[in-house]
Amino acid sequence: MKYFLFFIILLFSACSIFFSSRKKNSKQVFLANCGMCHGIDHNVVGPKLRGVYENRDKKWLQAYILNADSMYQAKDSLTVALYNKWRFEPHNKKNISINQKELKQILRYLKDNKQ
Ligand code: HEC
Repeated sequence: MKYFLFFIILLFSACSIFFSSRKKNSKQVFLANCGMCHGIDHNVVGPKLRGVYENRDKKWLQAYILNADSMYQAKDSLTVALYNKWRFEPHNKKNISINQKELKQILRYLKDNKQ
C-alpha cells in the first residue's frame, strides 16, 4: 500500500511537470513568433489577443495567422476590416514562419487566454 501511494504521487508529479512545461513551451513559441507585435492584454503593433480564440472561427484563425495577405487579396471581409483599422498587413510569409506544431502550440496558448 505504501509503495502504491508512493507510485501515485510520483505519477502525479510527473504529469504536472509534463503539463506545466507544455504550457511554458506554448508561451515561449507565442512570444518568439508573435510577441514582438502582439500582447495578450495590450495592443502593440497589432491588437491584443485575449479571447480571440473564442471569438473567431477556428479555420479562419489558422488561415489568418499563417497568411492573411492571401485572405486580404481574396477580399475576406474581416481581414479587410482589420487591415483598415491597423494598416499593417503583417501576416505574410516574410513575417510568419511557423510549422504546424508551432501553430498548434500558439493556438493552445491563445485558447488558454480566454476572455
Ligand atoms: C510584424 C508584426 C506581427 C507579427 C509578427 C504577428 N502579428 Fe498578428 N497582427 C499584426 C497586426 C498589425 C494585426 C492587425 C491586422 C492588420 O494590420 O492587417 C494583426 C492581427 C492579428 C490577428 C487578428 C485579430 C482579430 O481580432 O481577429 C490575430 C489572431 C493575430 N494577429 C495573431 C498573430 C499570431 C498568433 C502571431 C504569431 C504567429 C502573429 N499574429 C504575428 C501584427 C503582427
